[in-house]
Amino acid sequence: MAKKSTPSKAHPDILYLGIDLGTSRSAIAASNGKRQWIESYVGWPRDFVAKKMLGRDILFGEDAVEHRLSVELVRPLEFGVIKDGTDRNEEAVRELIHHLIELAEPEEGQKIYAAVGVPAEALRVNKMAIRNAVREYADALMVVSEPFAVAYGQNALNNALIIDIGAGTTDFCVMHGTMPTEEDQRTLTLAGDSIDRRLTEILREQYPGVRFGEQTVRHLKEAHGFVGPTNGKITVTMPVGAKLTEIDVTDAIRRACESIVAPIAETAIDLVSRYEPEFQEMLRRNVYLAGGGSQIKGIDKALEDALGEYGSFKITLVRDALFAGADGALALTQDMPEEYWEDM
Ligand SMILES: Nc1ncnc2c1ncn2[C@@H]1O[C@H](COP(=O)(O)OP(=O)(O)OP(=O)(O)O)[C@@H](O)[C@H]1O
Ligand SMILES: [Mg+2]
Repeated sequence: MAKKSTPSKAHPDILYLGIDLGTSRSAIAASNGKRQWIESYVGWPRDFVAKKMLGRDILFGEDAVEHRLSVELVRPLEFGVIKDGTDRNEEAVRELIHHLIELAEPEEGQKIYAAVGVPAEALRVNKMAIRNAVREYADALMVVSEPFAVAYGQNALNNALIIDIGAGTTDFCVMHGTMPTEEDQRTLTLAGDSIDRRLTEILREQYPGVRFGEQTVRHLKEAHGFVGPTNGKITVTMPVGAKLTEIDVTDAIRRACESIVAPIAETAIDLVSRYEPEFQEMLRRNVYLAGGGSQIKGIDKALEDALGEYGSFKITLVRDALFAGADGALALTQDMPEEYWEDM
């Protein structure tokens, strides 16, 4: 970005924003101290009746989901990329970003410098679309991969492996003291959403008479998700026919959550085995788990066990998984040299 001074925190005319654009949740952290997150849903009222009833032109997050019967509900990302087919999804990304920026409450006339972390795959496939989505609202922009943003925020810059278990994808990034390249990153489409699909399948098989909706299953996993030894029985009360019945979901939840452990371990091993042999030991002791999926109880231990036969791994859960990407992106806005910024 030619002729502009290096961004600095002390600059009151510039608001720096770290944005984490996720499949299920998006978060923002701003240099004015504001931090917010929303579920990555956009809803447009279906017709004039819906619009009059709702009293607004567009809804976001939980609000959009709650009114899903009267809005066209869009969750624009899937499997770590913007869903294709319609312009609607790109429009939804634009609206989400706009809404997040408003949540950070920029002051009149303040310039906006935004670093946007996106799933590693979207960085490859959707960089243009994301630039376009931010163009209207930002004066300078950089788009980085989400696991890199997380790594930066954790100060895990060397001999570190970040595993970000999101909704659509699990993203891996190896840090070796420089900017990571494509070779340092991997993406699996096994993450929170695939656990939800698996859990739905298992539950339908075990309880054919019960209807398990998408939101119910996700909430069940978020409240009780675990792997490894059980901590008592998990039951829910659901309508079977017209009668409320208590059912046991312990085993279903464990099996569904376990479904991602082996594939994640396999990819981690592959990345470690390609690393400079002298430093592999350090890398094994420096693994970070991020993303909503890192909150599955026991997943750090289960991964250490699965990796155990290849050496002794130490896995650390990042603090504040919800904001780790946005905080890291914000930290990047403070340190990235000029040439990484794009003028809008
Ligand atoms: N306490 C919890 N236990 C288990 N899973 C959880 C918990 N909280 C959130 N999740 C799951 O984590 C996933 C969302 O994680 P995150 O917010 O990191 O994803 P994202 O960034 O939106 O997705 P992606 O990185 O794939 O684009 C969802 O599948 C959600 O159900
Ligand atoms: Mg994510």
